[in-house]
Amino acid sequence: MARNLLGIRQLSTDEIGELIKTAAEYKARIEANKPVPEIKNKVIGMLFFENSTRTRMSFEQAAHYLKLKTANFVASGSSMSKGETLKDTVLTLRYERLSGLVMRHRQSGAPTLAARFFGGPVLNAGDGRHEHPTQALGDGLTIIERKGQIEGLKVAIVGDVEHSRVARSDAWLLSKCGAEVRLVGPRTLIPQNTSLLPGTVFHELSAGLADVDVIICLRLQRERMEEGSLSSLNEYAKLYQVNRETLRYAKPDVLIMHPGPINRGIEVDDTAADGESSAITAQVENGIFVRMAALHWVFAGEHQA
Ligand code: NCD
Repeated sequence: MARNLLGIRQLSTDEIGELIKTAAEYKARIEANKPVPEIKNKVIGMLFFENSTRTRMSFEQAAHYLKLKTANFVASGSSMSKGETLKDTVLTLRYERLSGLVMRHRQSGAPTLAARFFGGPVLNAGDGRHEHPTQALGDGLTIIERKGQIEGLKVAIVGDVEHSRVARSDAWLLSKCGAEVRLVGPRTLIPQNTSLLPGTVFHELSAGLADVDVIICLRLQRERMEEGSLSSLNEYAKLYQVNRETLRYAKPDVLIMHPGPINRGIEVDDTAADGESSAITAQVENGIFVRMAALHWVFAGEHQA
């Protein structure tokens, strides 16, 4: 059986640890100009049905370092524009002899469906509001680099948790690794049923940020919102923006993170995003190394079968 990376929820703490450790090793090797283990004679399909800057580029960079070939799939230029279903598209790619798929889709669960029909490894690059496992692994690596470990940290995930796959994958990873997770935001942007998600809910920013070691800011995903989820951007920013003032609630050495893309002046201000406490650019860079580890991990699973 092929090994897929569809979500953090299904991974054990040991598997998460192994993936992050491998990513850190690849990073050290690349920074020292040393060779990394390659994945030769394989071609991975890159299926991005939703826009992406960071995730797509870092999967491309990861493949480049591993000497793994990528084949780009452009949904608008494919037979899907002629009505072909996702199932038939995936089956076609399977018989085109692709070795694996990296897939982003607006529908939660689409990569899981793809894995069923493709048979080979499928890596979820973000599906709807479900999961974004490689983002969470990169965030885990970044926290370990800056804070030494995840266990015992207080982490606030702030903003539009309802529409965020990053929030869900981060919450799973952090709680599995022993952090205290807080979900902070207005009632309309926190999932109704939080029993399905690890973390304690806070609706007041001051209480949610009190004494935290890490703040993960989230973008307001207006493209996924229903009417009425948000009264006004100004009001949201006034109540929930992470900025010079509100950072005072957190620990003095708090780490500020954001998966990007950032809406500056809304969920976060320039001081918080660009200051010394910010790890936002490190998150981007670490995205490459965790995706290298993830690609090795799914293909290694294939050899064992
Ligand atoms: C996020 C995504 O697409 O889930 N970005 C990312 O991959 N780094 C978050 C977002 O779109 O706000």
